[in-house]
Amino acid sequence: MPKLGVNIDHVATLRQQRKPSQLDLILAAKLCELSGADSIVVHLREDRRHIQEADVRALRSSVNTKLNLEMSVAEEIVRLACSFKPDQATLVPERRQELTTEGGLDVIKLKKKIEGSVKKLKKQGIDVSLFIEPDLKQIRAAKDAGVSIIELHTGAYANSDSLAKIKKNLLKIKEATSYACGLGLIVNAGHGLDYNNVCAIAGLSHIYELNIGYSIVCHAVFVGLEQAVRQMKKLVDIQL
Ligand code: PXP
Repeated sequence: MPKLGVNIDHVATLRQQRKPSQLDLILAAKLCELSGADSIVVHLREDRRHIQEADVRALRSSVNTKLNLEMSVAEEIVRLACSFKPDQATLVPERRQELTTEGGLDVIKLKKKIEGSVKKLKKQGIDVSLFIEPDLKQIRAAKDAGVSIIELHTGAYANSDSLAKIKKNLLKIKEATSYACGLGLIVNAGHGLDYNNVCAIAGLSHIYELNIGYSIVCHAVFVGLEQAVRQMKKLVDIQL
């Protein structure tokens, strides 16, 4: 059964709306862990729109499961990550104008930059994952870049607007997962997963961890964070 990483960026998005704010991000992370999250995920964006440096430092000392820091390969962010020492760093593409991470990293095009960042992070004992499209060439390039973990972008699957597209994108993820496994990579997946579409991905063989944020935080508005995480954990644990 895949593990569940809960991304709490959007708890911070809400907190940033007022200053001072009573929304305690550390408590949110704690509740996620108590409700079954296997890891806590945050993205320190270059524009600091939600997660702040102080959040990552506080989470580093309070998270008991695993802290997974999503980050770009910008030099400043890599330097900060080396000092935060999260358990895992997930390298993602980052564009200022986007609402959320659009598409995976182009590992082929950014080979040098990515390899350099991976080396620096690994030297600090941080596990490194690359967020990529379910594309065999990108997976091969990720392996060559020296990582042992990849996260497959499930956005195309999640946004499919017909049964034919759902099937096609699910098959792509399935094939990508077995190819990556054959190369000895640990395979995670995430982006756009929700209470309706998660089971098909969770049921694929060899998926190690699913990272889910937006849908859980939205559902928490109605049922509370603990219940929202518990319900997602239950779906991830269902074997179809
Ligand atoms: N995985 C990665 C690498 C991401 O960048 C994001 C979005 O921050 C997620 C998972 C979670 O996506 P969502 O918020 O759509 O569940």
